[in-house]
Amino acid sequence: MIDQQLTSETSEVISSPETISTTLRINGQTYTLDIEPRVSLLDALREYLHLTGSKKGCNQGACGACTVLCDGDRVLSCLSLAVQYEGREVTTVEGLATDGKLHPLQAAFIEHDGFQCGYCTPGQICSAVGMIHEFQNHLPSAVTSDIASENIEFTDEELRERMSGNLCRCGAYIGIRKAICHAFEEVSR
Ligand code: FES
Ligand code: FES
Repeated sequence: MIDQQLTSETSEVISSPETISTTLRINGQTYTLDIEPRVSLLDALREYLHLTGSKKGCNQGACGACTVLCDGDRVLSCLSLAVQYEGREVTTVEGLATDGKLHPLQAAFIEHDGFQCGYCTPGQICSAVGMIHEFQNHLPSAVTSDIASENIEFTDEELRERMSGNLCRCGAYIGIRKAICHAFEEVSR
């Protein structure tokens, strides 16, 4: 009897998904979507808004291909629910260029061959933008020796640690590292 009740309740939930109206700010534009609360931010971007720059790699938080920025902080959009981001400013790789000019990190990735197939690149770039934002806000990482420092040194160790969540199956890490170092210098001048 209990089993039957559970089965019938479960099937009712699955067959009658409820949508809610969600207003998102993406790349400076406002979008209102009727979506189920379970829809990830990544699926909202790609499947509902057709902003396909953010990539779906693992869909479980392991590769970083889906990284976007939320109020300047990097987040894994495959692990985030779209409804969580109402009222926040979301930036995807499509929103990084301004007035037709590439973001310094986008330009640096081209200049330094920071990609091969390009699948991980939007996530790498958004993640690196977020990482620079972390440095500007004096946020330590797991390898920062002085976590109270207001001038955390941009070392290879910091770079490796902070970008460790973004995998590149093509192994374009040499170019990725060069591009990020170059852009970091440029925005820090
Ligand atoms: S797709 Fe989000 S971490 Fe891999
Ligand atoms: S450039 Fe192909 S996965 Fe990174």
